[in-house]
Amino acid sequence: MSMREQWGTRAGFIMAAVGSAIGLGNIWRFPATAYENGGGAFFIPYLFALLTAGIPLLILEFTIGHKYRGSAPLSFSRMNKKAEWIGWWAVFVSFVISTYYSVIIAWAISYSIFSFNQTWGTDTEAFLFGEYLQLPDVPGQIGAIVPSVFIPLIIVWAITLGVLFKGVKKGIELANRIFIPTLVVIFLIIVIRAITLPGAAEGLTSFFEPNFEAITSGGVWVAAYGQIFFSLSIAFAIMITYSSYLPKKSDITNNAFITGFSNSSFELLAGIGVFAALGFMASQAGVGVEEVVAGGVGLAFVVFPQIINEFPALSGLFGFLFFASLVLAGLSSLISISETYVKGISEKFGISRTAAVSIGGGLAALISLIYATDGGLYFLDAADYFINQFGVALIGLVEVVAIAWFMRKLGDFQNHANSISDIRIGGWWKVCLGVITPLVLGYMMFDLFKQNLL
Ligand code: PHE
Ligand code: NA
Repeated sequence: MSMREQWGTRAGFIMAAVGSAIGLGNIWRFPATAYENGGGAFFIPYLFALLTAGIPLLILEFTIGHKYRGSAPLSFSRMNKKAEWIGWWAVFVSFVISTYYSVIIAWAISYSIFSFNQTWGTDTEAFLFGEYLQLPDVPGQIGAIVPSVFIPLIIVWAITLGVLFKGVKKGIELANRIFIPTLVVIFLIIVIRAITLPGAAEGLTSFFEPNFEAITSGGVWVAAYGQIFFSLSIAFAIMITYSSYLPKKSDITNNAFITGFSNSSFELLAGIGVFAALGFMASQAGVGVEEVVAGGVGLAFVVFPQIINEFPALSGLFGFLFFASLVLAGLSSLISISETYVKGISEKFGISRTAAVSIGGGLAALISLIYATDGGLYFLDAADYFINQFGVALIGLVEVVAIAWFMRKLGDFQNHANSISDIRIGGWWKVCLGVITPLVLGYMMFDLFKQNLL
């Protein structure tokens, strides 16, 4: 058997893990989530979730990958033959996400080019849904492929699969070593510009203004845990796969702290940049900040084009930089989700990386074309809804309960992590994973079912 592929350097691994973590979730999900859930006061449940679930789970997943040296399915089956399905479930969820995450990156490529002459005009919403996505009135119809989405989508998959063909060191590591520093520089430029715009102060005030009453509600804590899970790419099989390429002598705990704090710092930076820009927009329109707050697709593709329309100078350039940052953040995450099934398939069926990328990646790319048709947005919404309901939180819950209570592996894993890491983890780590995280995730699932069934 050939040697397992490995990261070239420690920094390379960290860059790849941070690249997976930093994604659309940081830029368009975090700012609105924090704003809606207590503003400045949100940082209390958020930090609590980072320290009790985010970083402990990163340590757990890094340990699993490092110890069992396999993608998620192989690692779980080496842990216990009967647990392999947990890995496949996470891989399946990653596969589905990759099919539509890729499409959003494709839109961002189009919009980075539209920025230069503000192709979107003044009615940015009508442009997005009508002209660009060509959304029909009747949901559920699949029409023809929209060429303006199709072409950038092909570019997204060509880059992603091209990187994966090249393997761990020459592909994934190299791509992230280029993407992530570039992303950070671009983003700093955007944030500095945003906070010096007129009205930025009002935006920041409304972002940071704490509403301490909010954090007495369970929903705000659920939102904090949800953000941490999604944002750190936990329970998606990704971090297990990436850490399976770590050399024997590697630090685990320290790497987990670095990854967790880098992601949160970027998220905070995004919150500042986004709200400074929203404050600017509100002041231009002569309305309160609360009137312009948005998240998700609406923030990136409807509100940001409006902000760029209002820019005092160099609007084309700043528009381009904003959408380029979405592309870079998105691609590094897409590469990581796609690697989970590439490696999963390659190990399960004993086929080469090239074959696994062609089959797994090819299939994902093919399925993603559904969302590039003129009714595609309806399917994208449906897939995203399905994943949020049955995906992440539930896998996370099954993962920790199976490991902590059925297989009773936490003690072993604690020793494994401590035998190679600078920072030693103590009993608190087991309490976080065995008690706190399952309770919170259990409550989250209960909350979801209540919302959907009652
Ligand atoms: N962590 C990424 C983000 O914040 C999202 C993501 C989730 C990426 C799962 C890959 C897999 O956007
Ligand atoms: Na993130």
